[in-house]
Amino acid sequence: MASKFFEKSRKERIDEVSKFANLTPEERQILEGAGGIGFDQADKMVENAIGTFSFPLGIATNFVINNKEYLVPMVIEEPSVIAAASKAAKIAKIHGGFRMQNEESYSIGQIQIINVNIKEAIPKILSHTKEILDLANTKSNTLSKMGKGAKQVSCKEITTPSGPMLIVELLIDVGDAMGANVTNTMCEGVAPLVEQITGGKALLRILSNYSTRRLVSGTATFDKEELGGEQTVDNIILAYQFADNDEYRAVTHNKGIMNGIIAAANATGQDTRAIEAAAHAYAAKSGKYRSLTQWNKDKDGNLVGKIELPMSVGVVGGIINVHPMAKVCAKILQIKSASELACVIAAVGLAQNFSAIRALASEGIQKGHMKLHARNIAAAAGATPDQIDAIAAKMVQEGKISINRARELVGS
Ligand code: MEV
Repeated sequence: MASKFFEKSRKERIDEVSKFANLTPEERQILEGAGGIGFDQADKMVENAIGTFSFPLGIATNFVINNKEYLVPMVIEEPSVIAAASKAAKIAKIHGGFRMQNEESYSIGQIQIINVNIKEAIPKILSHTKEILDLANTKSNTLSKMGKGAKQVSCKEITTPSGPMLIVELLIDVGDAMGANVTNTMCEGVAPLVEQITGGKALLRILSNYSTRRLVSGTATFDKEELGGEQTVDNIILAYQFADNDEYRAVTHNKGIMNGIIAAANATGQDTRAIEAAAHAYAAKSGKYRSLTQWNKDKDGNLVGKIELPMSVGVVGGIINVHPMAKVCAKILQIKSASELACVIAAVGLAQNFSAIRALASEGIQKGHMKLHARNIAAAAGATPDQIDAIAAKMVQEGKISINRARELVGS
């Protein structure tokens, strides 16, 4: 499905997406519109609003994740990213696509207790676990009705320059929500009870974005022959080993993963700062900042990629229910749960990483990148839509991609 998507006109692409996702005429109209929200909505979302700011929305094709086909909406300004994800997914499809899992959706809330005798406070808190959980769960009827909500209370002592501190943590099953609001509400709601139990003072009451109980992981196999043989597979593994053993490379390697993750997360209106912060902390979980992916060979010499990272996303509540474009993107994905969305987003991250290190370990990224960059330069120089491709191709052929050359070509 969706073969040669990139060669189609905008209308044909929207036709294909609409058919795939069974979009209503209204949803189709949203895609054809100016990008989703008007000023009135923007003004309700943030303070001091003066306008809106739109970004390109594209579709990554060829994704098969847990045996289901997806068209993945991606919001990103960087050329090459969507093409690279689609290319990687096409190769992964040969061996069945991406196999992903996301088992838990627990959010972690933290309450910082000061001025307290920690050794005495911990057993007191733990013996009041049921009371604390019951109180927390009064803060969300929705989660409680679904059998979700606050499930566990734990305590830890941390050392700080001001002395030891007690941190009480709530583990909350947030189901299909991202869960930041409910977590914060529960923390604030139980803090007075924790103060009463311990005799201490609750200072911060806030969720942790380090969502280690919302991990998503998965794998995909990339065919050796399709990649150009054993040498390319070996070079990609060497590229990964460079990243896994050098922070300077690992940051860039993981940035490439986040190109895919953040673009897919943006399209569905996720809190991308939360995803990004957790991902980088997870990359450093061993005490050293490392790659979020691992690359090895299977017994047939095919390349096998793995990814694992925290992924706190939601399909209910938040922007996904407000932003018309995010709603349409969720419909295009045909996702049924936050867990499924987490799997899709992480699969895109793995695909993105594959394409980046494959290009880096062979011809380099500039060749492909410059072709797309040339189109942007041509457009910026005033080329009309029917001039853009010819001018970009000429600049690439000459090896001279600049705004001045583009202007000359537009004028010629
Ligand atoms: C560019 O946005 C991302 C890459 O630098 C990632 C990487 O180096 O792996 C190509």
